[in-house]
Amino acid sequence: MKKVYLETFGCQMNVSDSERVATRLAADGFEITPDEAAADVVLLNTCSVREKAEHKLFTRIGQVGKAAADRGDKKPLLGVLGCVAQLEGETLFGKTPAIDFVLGTRAVGRVSEAIDKAFGGANQFADLGEREAAYDWSVADAQRHSPYIAFVPIIEGCNKFCTYCIVPFSRGREKSLPATEIVQHVLRLRREGIREVHLIGQNVNSYRPKTDDGLENQPGATPFSKLLRAVAATGIERVKFTTSFPRDFHPDIIEAINEHENLCNWVHLPVQSGSSRILKLMRRGHTVENYLERIERIKASPRRIALTTDIIVGFPGETEADFQATLDLAEYCQFNSAYIFKYSPRPGTPAFEMPDDVSAAEKTERFLRLDNLIRFHQQKVFRAYINQTVEVLAEKISEKHSNQISGHTSCQMVVNFEGAADLLGKIVKVRILESKANTLYGKIC
Ligand code: 5AD
Ligand code: SF4
Repeated sequence: MKKVYLETFGCQMNVSDSERVATRLAADGFEITPDEAAADVVLLNTCSVREKAEHKLFTRIGQVGKAAADRGDKKPLLGVLGCVAQLEGETLFGKTPAIDFVLGTRAVGRVSEAIDKAFGGANQFADLGEREAAYDWSVADAQRHSPYIAFVPIIEGCNKFCTYCIVPFSRGREKSLPATEIVQHVLRLRREGIREVHLIGQNVNSYRPKTDDGLENQPGATPFSKLLRAVAATGIERVKFTTSFPRDFHPDIIEAINEHENLCNWVHLPVQSGSSRILKLMRRGHTVENYLERIERIKASPRRIALTTDIIVGFPGETEADFQATLDLAEYCQFNSAYIFKYSPRPGTPAFEMPDDVSAAEKTERFLRLDNLIRFHQQKVFRAYINQTVEVLAEKISEKHSNQISGHTSCQMVVNFEGAADLLGKIVKVRILESKANTLYGKIC
């Protein structure tokens, strides 16, 4: 049996694609190994959202070759999947001879054939699939990142063309899976013992299926808020969804969360900047005021909805005053957490044509100032959970302490508490006693 080692970079769509790749490979008679040294095939599922992510690919390729040479082994077959594969295709072969094949984001369904072909002697071939070919919407079952949590892709691709972003080019146009199929996936997952589903997509709330099938009897103001109600009605214990796009974030989403306990109280709503001038240059389709209106609705919910975001610092033309506006916004919003990125010019995007005029040192400085401020407020948000009782899905034994269990609340906070393996997969009540950098600590009650 040939052994395959699969490594994933980037977003949850890639994680979800990798789970499907692994499930397919296992069904086709390959063994998935967590041990790179034992692998006959190494697959790297890549991300192209920032330049650093791309560099990492070439670093990893070098490491795989060197590790094999140090062991005195032949280099394993090396396949590049994902967004870098889709964007660069055959040109990757010119950058390094170590790559045996390249599979684009729409061709991952043919991964077994590609491996067989490479073992059969073919070298340096690319399969980028049809640009409009169907996305593989199946839900992975054999190989999931958690036995209790499943990703369910509901929309793939992106039509927004924010000026800095490569995703519309690497993943293509938005396509939504019909609601009937999503509901069927969730019902099956529930029967199989899954406790929590994550409805995923670049912009889940832009969900727009071609037909109303499956939503015709659902109340709701938008296809996405109708879908949320339909998924809630399956009775699955927890439903999370990410990522949301501010412009399309209709208040009815909050209504749906208020009505259904199993729709989780967490919203990931990337703001990207606190300056409306920069947001316009980013072509985000929302101003700071629009964003704050959404936040007011979220904060007004009786369910205490946790809010997380993404922010880019050092976008072309970002002045100290623009950055100050981002600090002000972060102070006001009190995010549970925020992913901060230094702007990275991506060839082919409109922002690539703008002068990248914030120096690397300035980007680093802004990153650190924003990170400090967000951490400061995050600690206040975290401390507010002390002495509260939260429900935690017991997901795994803690890596650091074998007598502790680690899991997430419905609002996506990480909680550790003392407990044994028999609790795994259960949703338990935990009283929070302490908060640390990114984790809450508590006692089961
Ligand atoms: N530079 C820096 N950050 C970026 N992101 C997307 N493109 C870029 C880029 N060119 C960030 C955005 C997005 C997150 C997934 O990655 O904040 O929300
Ligand atoms: Fe990129 Fe904007 Fe689409 Fe998000 S919404 S994937 S940032 S283009």
